[in-house]
Amino acid sequence: MSNQINAFIFDLDGVITDTAEYHFNAWSELAKDIGIEIDEEFNEQLKGVSRIESLQRILKHGGKENEFTEQEIIELADKKNDHYKTLIAKVTPNDILPGIVDLLEDIKASGIQIALGSASKNAPFILEQLQLNRYFDYIVDAGKVKQGKPHPETFLTAADHFDVPYETCVGVEDAEAGVTAIKDASMFAVGVGSEPILHKANIIFPETKNLSLEKIKSAFNAES
Ligand code: BG6
Ligand code: MG
Repeated sequence: MSNQINAFIFDLDGVITDTAEYHFNAWSELAKDIGIEIDEEFNEQLKGVSRIESLQRILKHGGKENEFTEQEIIELADKKNDHYKTLIAKVTPNDILPGIVDLLEDIKASGIQIALGSASKNAPFILEQLQLNRYFDYIVDAGKVKQGKPHPETFLTAADHFDVPYETCVGVEDAEAGVTAIKDASMFAVGVGSEPILHKANIIFPETKNLSLEKIKSAFNAES
């Protein structure tokens, strides 16, 4: 590994803002409509995963994976997204998680490029609501990613855009699928959340307010 970080690639939901909670609310309600119950523990398997894949996991969880046509599945996913969109319409800069703006400022001041690597097709809208666009040099288009997380494509796309070696990139994630994607991209993984879920990450911070560029840089250098 080179000891210079060239790019940071951030997940959005659950890292920059707490929309992970909104995804959970919207999915719980949709699941209830079709007679399936989901809890926070099961929800961990949905974090970072695309909309359709999330729905397929919910149907499987409820033993209903063969009960809906392809068209009905699309309609259910649309229904969840319509509900989700009403929740994110209320997002404001007050919803930026603690420590995130300071971290983005520190990264920018170090001259390191920043990308958004979210699986969400709603990510550009949310970033606008949060008024954080100015920090991001590139946003991976979730609609164009063929293989969602845990596949590394999202992270590789950002590094390829910047034309920097994968080993010089740092990914920041709150989801198990996301950390797997970062590691499989040969990048340095920063996990935000609990150790048992994110154990594959190179460094873990319990909450966003604990994030520190200093600490990330020294952990990155220690592994270079
Ligand atoms: C990820 C979330 O960021 O985006 C998942 O962690 C979500 O929960 C996925 O399913 C897709 O989001 P959207 O907004 O395109 O349905
Ligand atoms: Mg996330």
